[in-house]
Amino acid sequence: MDIEKLKKQFVQLYQQEPLVVKSPGRVNIIGEHTDYNNGFVLPAAIDKAAYLAIALRDDDEIHLSALDLNEHFKIHIKDLKPIGDISWPNFILGVVAQFIKKGITLKGFNAALLSDVPIGAGLSSSAAIECATVFALNELLQTNLDRMTMVHMAQKAEHEYAGVMCGIMDQFASMMGKKDHVIKLDCMTMEYEYKPFKLNGLKILLLNTNVKHSLASSEYNTRRLECMKAVEWVKESNPSVKSLRDATIEMLKHNVLNKDALVYRRAEFVVEEINRLQQASINLEMGDINAIGAKMYTTHDGLSQKYEVSCKELDFLVNETRKNDAVIGSRMMGGGFGGCTINLVKEEEIEELIKIIKPRYEETMSLPLSFYVVTITNGTEIIE
Ligand code: GLA
Repeated sequence: MDIEKLKKQFVQLYQQEPLVVKSPGRVNIIGEHTDYNNGFVLPAAIDKAAYLAIALRDDDEIHLSALDLNEHFKIHIKDLKPIGDISWPNFILGVVAQFIKKGITLKGFNAALLSDVPIGAGLSSSAAIECATVFALNELLQTNLDRMTMVHMAQKAEHEYAGVMCGIMDQFASMMGKKDHVIKLDCMTMEYEYKPFKLNGLKILLLNTNVKHSLASSEYNTRRLECMKAVEWVKESNPSVKSLRDATIEMLKHNVLNKDALVYRRAEFVVEEINRLQQASINLEMGDINAIGAKMYTTHDGLSQKYEVSCKELDFLVNETRKNDAVIGSRMMGGGFGGCTINLVKEEEIEELIKIIKPRYEETMSLPLSFYVVTITNGTEIIE
């Protein structure tokens, strides 16, 4: 990323020297749709990030620019509300709203954004912007918020200004990432552990379907409701169960299957996925990356057949890798209905793999295939 260019453009636009904050996108090795069910996730921050240049103003106006989109937006703090026609300002304004809710007196500011986290690719481009914003404002306003508080504020911004009732994973991973480590996060207690991610000759390869089906956010919210429904039914005979984290397959069979087979399938996937992550975390400690890879395929099958958040493009890419020895594990990643697959691939065979998959995908789907080899980085930080 060209930070000098970002600073130069900021100075040209606003005649001020900015603070520059970087916040990364994320991958998730295993543990999908488990965060809002109080389960575990295993994400990591990656070397694709949002960069926010920012400086306070003397008045109460917020002036925003997205440099790569060449879009500009301004609003007075007293008129703050989610806006309808373009999405990116909402990720920043949603964070501003959280400061106000905390009773913190805000000043106006100028901000310019540059990001190389591809939009709609399931790599949390919005969480990266939210985390960069909360971190930058905390610094400028000297509010001394701790990282975990900022993670929650960034998540609330997504709920209230982007309308997606996301779990905590994306904002957590962006803010808390650690170079070469995945983070095992318990979304019930918010306890977490950094685990070295030793790839031993493998690389993380993301294959971008370049589709984002319009279903993504509405179906996401529907899945949340389906999981809540299952918990409600399980509670009828197991009052101590508070979330799918506390549920077992037996409980689901007993209390959910007879009421609604679809809700059962959703809940069954979540309970299995929470267990799978626990096993994967043991595999990780033993350095058994092949076992993790095999679990990634099982996760994909569950997401596709039971949770039904995949799509034909994602299924195609995962299926292509099943017959290829270069790939240890592959699955759709993130909320679903498009975006990327995450693949663990033998480094020296990546080029060959792309040569095979890219033309086949493009011909079958009539869509371009993009790909990124990513490394694991630190979370949100001030860079200048
Ligand atoms: C999106 C959400 C996350 C998480 C994933 C699915 O990325 O923002 O909170 O629920 O989907 O695992």
